[in-house]
Amino acid sequence: MKFFIDTANLSEIQEAYDLGVLDGVTTNPSLMAKEGISGDEAVKAHYKAICNIVDDKVSAEVIATDFNGMIREGKELAKIDDKIVVKIPMIKEGVKAIKYFHSEGIRTNCTLVFSAGQALLAAKAGASYLSPFIGRLDDISFDGLELIQQIVHIYRTYDFQTEVLAASIRHTMHLIKCAEIGADVVTCPLKVITGLLNHPLTDKGLAQFLADHAKAAGK
Ligand code: G3P
Repeated sequence: MKFFIDTANLSEIQEAYDLGVLDGVTTNPSLMAKEGISGDEAVKAHYKAICNIVDDKVSAEVIATDFNGMIREGKELAKIDDKIVVKIPMIKEGVKAIKYFHSEGIRTNCTLVFSAGQALLAAKAGASYLSPFIGRLDDISFDGLELIQQIVHIYRTYDFQTEVLAASIRHTMHLIKCAEIGADVVTCPLKVITGLLNHPLTDKGLAQFLADHAKAAGK
């Protein structure tokens, strides 16, 4: 199972990378805007800075929504670094663009996925990654994890090579449940990754060990 961090914040990416468990990064236009990054050259420079931190798999999203625009932008993004995965929205033109990039050997991440039907289309077109948004489904009273389970079942049944990248993860239980049901990748904020560290019995046990050690040493 791969861990991606869902942010464009360089220090958070560095912190997750330094922990030694990071396999990639996902960004989107909202996350880039949150960091105050705008303008073609600034955006490209920021993606390059992200690529310089991690080993591989940096999702960079196109803004265009027409086929030619997505191809033009996607090629520009892919030129930034071999680590770039071109992120394409799940729309009709996007499916065509995914097919095109697949034939060109450029990896894609199909985003804004909310149904099994969309997942089938993306896999048929040859998406490298599929991003169903769990949290946003939960927000409107649909079970996001159930969708992940359904897509994992379909992909395994037909041996699709597209990896299920569970996105819009809000808390550690989302992540753990994704692991149980076989998502290939999770992308989540830093606090969800570091949240996995927490257990009060670990803290209590460590405090006791250190106190006992100090006592034995006569401190
Ligand atoms: O990668 C997609 C993800 O960033 C969406 O997360 O929390 O905005 O629903 P969220």
